[in-house]
Amino acid sequence: MDNITREIKVLKEEKGAIILAHYYAPEDVQKLADFVGDSFYLAKVAKNTDAKVVVFCGVSFMGESAKILNPEKTVLMPDINADCAMAHMADVKKIKKMREEYDDLAVVCYINSTAELKCHSDVCVTSSNAIKIVRSLKNKNIYFIPDNNLGRFVANRVPEKNVILNDGCCPIHVGISKEALLKEKEKHPSALVLSHPECTEDVLSLSDYIGSTAEIIDYAKESDKKEFIICTECGVKYELEKDNPEKKFYFLSSCATCRDMKLNTPEKILHVLKTGENEITVDKEVAKSALVCLDRMLEMGK
Ligand code: 13P
Ligand code: SF4
Repeated sequence: MDNITREIKVLKEEKGAIILAHYYAPEDVQKLADFVGDSFYLAKVAKNTDAKVVVFCGVSFMGESAKILNPEKTVLMPDINADCAMAHMADVKKIKKMREEYDDLAVVCYINSTAELKCHSDVCVTSSNAIKIVRSLKNKNIYFIPDNNLGRFVANRVPEKNVILNDGCCPIHVGISKEALLKEKEKHPSALVLSHPECTEDVLSLSDYIGSTAEIIDYAKESDKKEFIICTECGVKYELEKDNPEKKFYFLSSCATCRDMKLNTPEKILHVLKTGENEITVDKEVAKSALVCLDRMLEMGK
């Protein structure tokens, strides 16, 4: 065990802290985290933990959601600048306009969104529960924010709903091109293509399986196949290779990298544990109304 890991371990015990990391966090951060997972799993851990302090190695909407779900806890982020570009790609004015246009509208908000957007929404979803939740809503008209690719994927799987799309997207996943994927498929003709629903429709149409990061990891583990082309952020490589040493995972030549997720480092984890800096705060009124749609997701996504 190196010195930083040792110091983190001691401080964690002293402060009653746990470390959560998303699969897109750097490998050395995933290695020292207590819980590693996709957005839905991490939200559930954040809601149910008894720890006094949660160090969230992800991006700001994750730290914010953890604080909203568990307001008594101290939530720290190793790097306060780690943000998700897509989380800001919807507009409260537009939501209000849509509500005027449709009587029967449910605003479904991908968890990758600011707390303010959640306040104006009816229910949150993640990529692993979006289909289930949209399907079980009574409303016919669904305004899906902010991600238009996940929204379209859900619309295709739940054709009985009228899903109205917003024009946000994840700049990292839309950077995975159909052309690059076709080239990779040519190199590895027997590999299955596993993709995240934040990818473009073109990429999804060439995929054998579409799911959240955790679902991609589970699928690869369960599959009898030995080779996979992975269309999501390259942080999942660590877990995929750790769990499946006999299988091969190919990432497109320009491995999709979320710069914000990579701002999390062991040094910064140590620093916030020592100093208590980068504590997440959310305005009480905002938190109260954002909690309604996060709690609804945890209930409906069970
Ligand atoms: P999941 O962890 O739900 O697959 O989401 C991917 C993502 O973009 C998180 O930022
Ligand atoms: Fe946001 Fe995309 Fe980074 Fe996920 S990968 S945190 S959606 S920018």
